[in-house]
Amino acid sequence: MRIAVIGAGYVGLVSGACFSEFGIDVVCVDRDENKVALLQRGQMPVYEPGLAALVKSNAEAGRLSFTTALHGAVAEAEAVFIAVGTPCRCDNNGHADLSDLFEAAREVAEALRGYTVVVIKSTVPVGTGRKVESIIRATRQDIPLDVVSNPEFLREGSAIHDFVRPDRVVVGTDSERAREVMRQLYRMLYLRETPILFTNLETSELIKYAANTFLSLKIAFINEMADLCERIGTDVCDVAHGIGLDSRIGHKFLHPGPGYGGSCFPKDTLALVHTARDHGVPLRIVETVVDMNKSRKKEMAGRIIAACGGSVSGKTIAVLGLTFKPNTDDMRESPSLDIIPALQKAGAAVRAFDPEGMNEARKIMPDILYCPNAYETMKGAEALVILTEWNEFRSLDLGRMRRLLKELIVVDLRNIYDPSDVMQAGFQYTCIGRSSNKTL
Ligand code: UGA
Repeated sequence: MRIAVIGAGYVGLVSGACFSEFGIDVVCVDRDENKVALLQRGQMPVYEPGLAALVKSNAEAGRLSFTTALHGAVAEAEAVFIAVGTPCRCDNNGHADLSDLFEAAREVAEALRGYTVVVIKSTVPVGTGRKVESIIRATRQDIPLDVVSNPEFLREGSAIHDFVRPDRVVVGTDSERAREVMRQLYRMLYLRETPILFTNLETSELIKYAANTFLSLKIAFINEMADLCERIGTDVCDVAHGIGLDSRIGHKFLHPGPGYGGSCFPKDTLALVHTARDHGVPLRIVETVVDMNKSRKKEMAGRIIAACGGSVSGKTIAVLGLTFKPNTDDMRESPSLDIIPALQKAGAAVRAFDPEGMNEARKIMPDILYCPNAYETMKGAEALVILTEWNEFRSLDLGRMRRLLKELIVVDLRNIYDPSDVMQAGFQYTCIGRSSNKTL
């Protein structure tokens, strides 16, 4: 089989590489010439563990290629995956911006040669698939085609695993012919007994938003529980464990922290709120979650300032982790973007290190002293703040930290340390939802 993937961004690239690994011929199309040239040289525009090797082996096997020429790629394809960005536009009232998607649909329409399945991988509001269908049909009444919704559930940092071992695949279409093409494309997963759920277009589109929103809700819930635990002197990790053992609740996405970030949860929760309002069904829980998460990220700087005795003016703060989560270089909506500027505004100088995110971070926060490693970051700082739970921050040498830091203050917004270990080493340790704000 042969497919074209329009948009060699994060989703398009991972999906294209994984489909080629399934033995399908894949051409990834992007209008960004620099990105295509980079990919043709085997270099990745994003950091994702395992992606470079997967692209390399499949490109060498002749199953994966990159081009700016949409026409040729689409004309040859049995299915065309559209995986362009659908960012949330503030000037669009929180709605997803679908201009790139509709533009791609128009270009695809012009290039079609015979029956083709046009698959929407981008996250799109309910009803978008039908719009794409009418855009294409308006141009090409001569060609039979089906539009399918096939949302992705990949997590940055484990995207390849999520693609090849998904919990489920969701396919939204009314057409049996399109279903058969999708069955063939996902044959590898079908053979592994991955649940493949067939729905109509709208249901599939909504499943994607509902899934991300529900996960955001779990995080917001445990963050609120963490606040309560701090007040009553209990441990939120025990509470999360205790409720997570109930299989109806589950353990996942119950880690409290500084608020969720990334390119998906903040955008998708907001887009769902607006879609629902447009339909006259306000989603009060989700609206609250969106507000809570925004204010949580802002409140975090206050916690750091409080841990530093009420003021950071003239002090140096060492920050470990800048990305919205580990194993990515993605800074989008990262809590660090709220926390660090607030500390600077309060008079702090910030030194920081992130294993992959510093190139991106430099563009947005130039006024940080970027350091080559974790220990260098701590030198002479009056407090150490952990913002992202990269593995390499999980077992820092506490003795070395004592010698490097000017004040023995650690603020761990990801709960990656055992409070008693850090406090026994003489540190004042502040974390999330566990009573630990004192020196032993
Ligand atoms: C998320 C979903 O998990 C994917 O299933 C989905 O495909 C993707 O969005 C998307 O729509 O493209 P991702 O944004 O890569 O994936 O990252 P997550 O691992 O979900 O984390 C999102 C945020 O929630 C991060 O800031 C993370 O630190 C935070 N989080 C996550 C918590 O604070 N606590 C948790 O227990 C879990």
